[in-house]
Amino acid sequence: MAHSPDPAAPVLLFDSGVGGLSVLAELRKVLPEAPVIYAADLAGLPYGEKSEAEIAARVCGLLGRLSERYQPRLICIACNTASTIALAMVRDVLEVPIVGTVPAIKPAAEMTRTGVIGLLGTAATIRQPYVDRLEVEFAKGKTLLRHAAPELVGAAEAKLRGEPVDSAVFMRAAEGLRRQPGAERIDTVVLACTHFPLVKDELAQAFGPQVHFIDGAAGIARRIAALTAGQQFTRPDPDCALLTGKDTALADALAPAFGKFGISRILML
Ligand code: DGL
Repeated sequence: MAHSPDPAAPVLLFDSGVGGLSVLAELRKVLPEAPVIYAADLAGLPYGEKSEAEIAARVCGLLGRLSERYQPRLICIACNTASTIALAMVRDVLEVPIVGTVPAIKPAAEMTRTGVIGLLGTAATIRQPYVDRLEVEFAKGKTLLRHAAPELVGAAEAKLRGEPVDSAVFMRAAEGLRRQPGAERIDTVVLACTHFPLVKDELAQAFGPQVHFIDGAAGIARRIAALTAGQQFTRPDPDCALLTGKDTALADALAPAFGKFGISRILML
């Protein structure tokens, strides 16, 4: 018989910042009763500007500590940057099931009519061999144009802190794709960073109505639901966020946004 976890064992969602909340929103739709711990490595944000070695070390170290302390039933690395670099490593060292987040190139290739797909991610994500492999496997015969848009990470963080964001940031992200040869035929853009769906409306304004966006959040939520099918869930305490960095002013600024995603307690790591 399959091992049944403690009904109060949480699903642990992990990201460098608030990006994983875009995955949590989808998870709530399919598993509203699942207790969740949301861990954000705000002290390490942005991952996208770091080296592969640094990201791998941070992610493995943190997830090791968190899984010992909180005994999650499943960990979701709700971050494309961390997943494309460290997913295999984390799976090697932890016993708990790990769900990763990878750029939604496969569904984008099925969706495009023009055959030209844009991909927005962090600098670290777009240079990963993992992305090359997805392109070769799923986007054969299509054109995939990549652009690193690190500014969008800061924009999503600022938006969730309740701060205004200059629309020029979104125009620059769109321009980064549009200036590439063949870009006038882009009809589908992969949001290959979990922060980006949080600013999808702003991106839609910048790209215009001919472009559709796709991200992996709903698929990840379905995968978590499949891996926990048949398990019992209870939520003895309200869901909480764990933040690295000990910045209480930042935690206060983010509290209303976390509240909207059903997270009413914020703890410092
Ligand atoms: N949310 C992360 C991702 O999906 C990246 C943000 C960062 O640069 O830390 O790639």
